[in-house]
Amino acid sequence: MSRYSQLCPVYFGPGEVNNTGAIAKELGMTHVLLVTEKAIVETGIPQKVMDSLLQSGIKVSIYDGVKMDAPDTTVIEGAELAVSTGADGIIGCGGGSSLDTAKGIALYVTNKENVDIKKMIHFDPANPLILAPALKTIMIPTTSGTGSESTFVAVITDTDTHQKCGCIVWANAAIVDPDLTVGLGKTITAYTGMDAFSHCNECLCNVMPNPHSDTLALSSMERIYKWLPVAVDDPECKEARYNLAIASNFAGIAFQDSQVNVGHAMAHALGARLHIPHGIGCALVTPPVIELVAGARPEIYGKVAEIFELEISSVEELPAKLADAVRSFNRRIGIPSMKDLGFTREQVLSTVNYALSEMMRMGCIVPQNEAVLTDMMAKVYDNYQ
Ligand SMILES: NC(=O)c1ccc[n+]([C@@H]2O[C@H](COP(=O)([O-])OP(=O)(O)OC[C@H]3O[C@@H](n4cnc5c(N)ncnc54)[C@H](O)[C@@H]3O)[C@@H](O)[C@H]2O)c1
Ligand SMILES: [Fe+2]
Repeated sequence: MSRYSQLCPVYFGPGEVNNTGAIAKELGMTHVLLVTEKAIVETGIPQKVMDSLLQSGIKVSIYDGVKMDAPDTTVIEGAELAVSTGADGIIGCGGGSSLDTAKGIALYVTNKENVDIKKMIHFDPANPLILAPALKTIMIPTTSGTGSESTFVAVITDTDTHQKCGCIVWANAAIVDPDLTVGLGKTITAYTGMDAFSHCNECLCNVMPNPHSDTLALSSMERIYKWLPVAVDDPECKEARYNLAIASNFAGIAFQDSQVNVGHAMAHALGARLHIPHGIGCALVTPPVIELVAGARPEIYGKVAEIFELEISSVEELPAKLADAVRSFNRRIGIPSMKDLGFTREQVLSTVNYALSEMMRMGCIVPQNEAVLTDMMAKVYDNYQ
């Protein structure tokens, strides 16, 4: 059985941000709450969004309190502002943290009278809440990484437990304008690019792969392999940014149904416990995940090996060789090791329990227990220093 979906229209292309007003108007928005981060306001990008909205006769209020990893407190704050300003549409503009905060606000605004925020962000598939539809939303990414503009989830941090959790909510439209990422710094470019790469990898090792996910994931991996080093070396390269914007969006659409699993359980554990950026965690866990799963889908991982220009003579050598190639790629684009970041092996291993408790890991084609996850976390530290 396989299932695949595409949840919202994507308006793609350089300069597309200037059509935000027309797209918002088509969705019936009359007063928008623009959700972003102070640092992104300084780039001038939100101003372009505002100009386009104002030209279309749409009122704009701004919430610039977004913080890294979308804490639930900012969702509450933003929702209060949406109510007090009378906003009837939410636009997220920024990296994944801004988009997820915006998606969370859109859902919380219409549910806050009846639903506790903690219940809303701890989505439980066995016991889903009945929620009112979210306010209409448009998502405008300024990084090429999360694909959140096209995914069905907002990753929100529970500030009491420091857990990364989520709620089910998706945008009514995505505006993917590669020019918004031109000039993004080398390190953020590298981290976010490997987040997208890990989305692709985990689609391929999901228990329910499908042809749509496989095709998008492979195309995205090919673009990341070719263009991420170019963008890291030359942050102004428009061709690289164009391809990475496609790659990130394709990866987000790809994990709609073939969802991320053990790699993200591990990356969330590293992020929640040791507070490293999501993309670094994703980059570091991907080689051990490949070692675990490549033998279980040798045909598809053979295609990934081709993308990495590897010569593979047997299925047996595929997992380790491909994992090493991804480690070399991580080095090439400047992904730091856990040791570089100042962590000890014990600290890295202390996150295993968190990863074990993340139910998303069950979506992986190869089951894991505590011993397997301990071995994978040890490889994160030992095999990349
Ligand atoms: N909803 C989903 O489907 C999904 C998928 C993957 C990850 N996520 C979540 O997304 C978050 C990570 O998002 P991210 O990696 O995009 O990081 P981020 O949103 O936290 O942004 C990282 C940094 O980049 C800066 N930045 C962003 N765009 C910029 C620009 N154009 N110019 C200059 N600086 C810019 C921001 O100010 C910030 O300092 C995590 O919380 C992660 O869990 C969500
Ligand atoms: Fe991710």
